Amino acid sequence: MQKANSHYAWSSPPTVLDLQSHQVDIWRVHLDLPIGTLGQLEATLSEDESQRAAHFHFPVDRDRFIAAHGCLRDVLSRYLYCEPGQLGFSANHYGKPELNDHKLQFNLSHSGDFALVAVTQEHRVGIDIERIRQGISSQVIAQQYFSKSEVAELQALPLELREAAFFTCWTRKEAYIKAQGLGLSLPLESFDVSLVPNEPAILRATRPDPQEASRWMLHSLQIDSNHASAVAVESEGLEFRLWDWNINY
Ligand SMILES: CC(C)(COP(=O)(O)OP(=O)(O)OC[C@H]1O[C@@H](n2cnc3c(N)ncnc32)[C@H](O)[C@@H]1OP(=O)(O)O)[C@@H](O)C(=O)NCCC(=O)NCCS
Repeated sequence: MQKANSHYAWSSPPTVLDLQSHQVDIWRVHLDLPIGTLGQLEATLSEDESQRAAHFHFPVDRDRFIAAHGCLRDVLSRYLYCEPGQLGFSANHYGKPELNDHKLQFNLSHSGDFALVAVTQEHRVGIDIERIRQGISSQVIAQQYFSKSEVAELQALPLELREAAFFTCWTRKEAYIKAQGLGLSLPLESFDVSLVPNEPAILRATRPDPQEASRWMLHSLQIDSNHASAVAVESEGLEFRLWDWNINY
């Protein structure tokens, strides 16, 4: 497993993105948008997306869903030089969304008032963001979802590091699962990630094929102090570009 350079900063995107095959673009989106922007994005959604939005009980969740899916369309249309509303999606057997008629790879994650979108030309990619919730039973959840070596590493950490390490591990595992696109049919026990915060993100081991680990890059993303996030990409030696989304670009 390659180590990703962690010296990346969020910035405004250029007008022409020109995504190369060795690059991964990550878009950070603040989902609580002005009503006018939300209306613009809502107009680009498909019937299916609008129906899903309508099912949310609370308006805040509905609006964030619209923002996340509208931004996803806006982002992808910038690479494909088309109108956001023209894009068509389907899902693989495990629910991973894919573009119809285009090779561009992407993945979306949203939590609280943030969404992240990862885009590559041809590499499978998965991304995850989690709002850091205080007081959750991280030891109990870790026992259920993490591999044996991850649980042991978590328990060996000083107490004050465990909460951050738990969310670090969770987002790295989730990003890898999402990149593989196999849902939870990929057993969570079948791979190990590094989890100590601020140490390199590494896919340490994969089972039953140990070579699989060397084919992937993991990278943790700095969002803000309330969120943990990671991206997994199937390739080595990639360059990450971090863009802050704004409809006015
Ligand atoms: C379906 C799943 C993607 C949910 O992930 P999540 O963390 O709840 O949600 P995220 O916001 O990160 O991702 C959701 C988005 O991923 C995409 N997605 C859906 N199914 C997917 C799949 N099988 N693979 C990759 N991406 C998927 C969609 O764009 C979805 O957005 P939408 O729900 O608004 O349409 C899946 O990975 C899952 O159910 N995980 C279970 C959680 C778990 O046990 N994790 C253990 C980690 S240690």
